Amino acid sequence: MTAQPLPDSSISLTYTTPESPPHLHHAPLPVPGPNQILVKIHAAAINPVDIQLWGNPLLGLLAGRREKGLGRDYAGTVAGIGSALRKSSQWQLGERVFGLCNRPTGEGTFAEYLCVTPASEPVAKMPQAWGFEEAAAVPLVVLTAFACLAWLPAETESPNGAARRVVVGGASGGVGMWVVQLAKVYGCHLTGVCSGKNAEFVRGLGADDVVDYNRQDVAETLLASRPEGRKYDLYVDCVGGTEMFEHWYDLLHKNAAYITIVGDKTSRTAMGGPFTYLTYPSQIWRHVYGFFFGPRYANVLLYQKSELLEQVAKLADEKGVQIVVQDVVKGILSEPGHVDAWDKVKGYMVEGRVRGKIVVSIP
Ligand SMILES: NC(=O)c1ccc[n+]([C@@H]2O[C@H](COP(=O)([O-])OP(=O)(O)OC[C@H]3O[C@@H](n4cnc5c(N)ncnc54)[C@H](OP(=O)(O)O)[C@@H]3O)[C@@H](O)[C@H]2O)c1
Repeated sequence: MTAQPLPDSSISLTYTTPESPPHLHHAPLPVPGPNQILVKIHAAAINPVDIQLWGNPLLGLLAGRREKGLGRDYAGTVAGIGSALRKSSQWQLGERVFGLCNRPTGEGTFAEYLCVTPASEPVAKMPQAWGFEEAAAVPLVVLTAFACLAWLPAETESPNGAARRVVVGGASGGVGMWVVQLAKVYGCHLTGVCSGKNAEFVRGLGADDVVDYNRQDVAETLLASRPEGRKYDLYVDCVGGTEMFEHWYDLLHKNAAYITIVGDKTSRTAMGGPFTYLTYPSQIWRHVYGFFFGPRYANVLLYQKSELLEQVAKLADEKGVQIVVQDVVKGILSEPGHVDAWDKVKGYMVEGRVRGKIVVSIP
């Protein structure tokens, strides 16, 4: 693959103070350091965390008025290779890559060009089967799903044997759809909790059972569905709240785990994840009690590992996986199109009704 001529500058969508309208930022083309690659981004994805960071006053205070990028996921082509990495043949110019750029107050992926450090940031070669828009929809959510499923108890510790029973709340969302698909790869029995309109979609991802949270009492339905009363192995919560804790010991066996990526909070725009141990201290008690007596409780953060992106790329090439992109939003780096494009992607995240992912295309 040959090198394409590079421009002198790169455009990105950035903001300065919390909740200030994002604007187009023109900067000189970033130059990759010795251990970095330069990526020409072709597609990126929005996640709830983008809105949570953009609106976070504490972060605004700590980071000051510097330009802060939006977007964490990206897919693109290698446009430059740092001097140290050129010695190995790991990266080639023009190669298609996808990855996660998790820099809360730094650069984002709603940008034409981005330097990434493969030794410390998750990045991998794209599988043959995917286009850029599909690949951009994957990194953050799949890395979170892997972090949740790491808590699946071993077969020998489960009353359900090899077909361990997993429940995922929010099965039709970005993270949920990967928990469903990966749990099925691990040979688990999967129950997805979603609204009725998404039931067939979640079944299509591989879920064995579906509970419609609008029409059924979720806890009662789960309790009634236990074969011979055998309890569940893992509950993955992608929505937040405390509704399930009343039934904690009836739902989960001693070696099982309740894993949340949100916490007790239910707001879509407030920061979730392990940070909420500080704002909801009852989570600490649950965590400590579960550690000693079971079932385990943890509020987890996504994994940042390139190997896991390589693993999912291999899975895509060998077995096939479904990547569901509800909408591809255009114009995020154009003037004045970025205003409407930002409003649209922000609206999707605040509303919280997306099936799969929302992607932005980057020309
Ligand atoms: N800790 C971490 O590392 C980490 C990483 C990623 C994400 N997160 C957090 O995890 C949450 C989910 O992220 P995501 O990207 O998967 O979100 P998402 O794709 O925006 O989730 C939207 C989905 O949630 C479903 N949903 C909404 N309310 C529900 C309910 N009560 N029960 C079941 N499903 C419900 C919606 O389906 P319906 O329209 O059918 O209701 C929709 O399909 C966010 O709060 C995010 O900030 C944390």
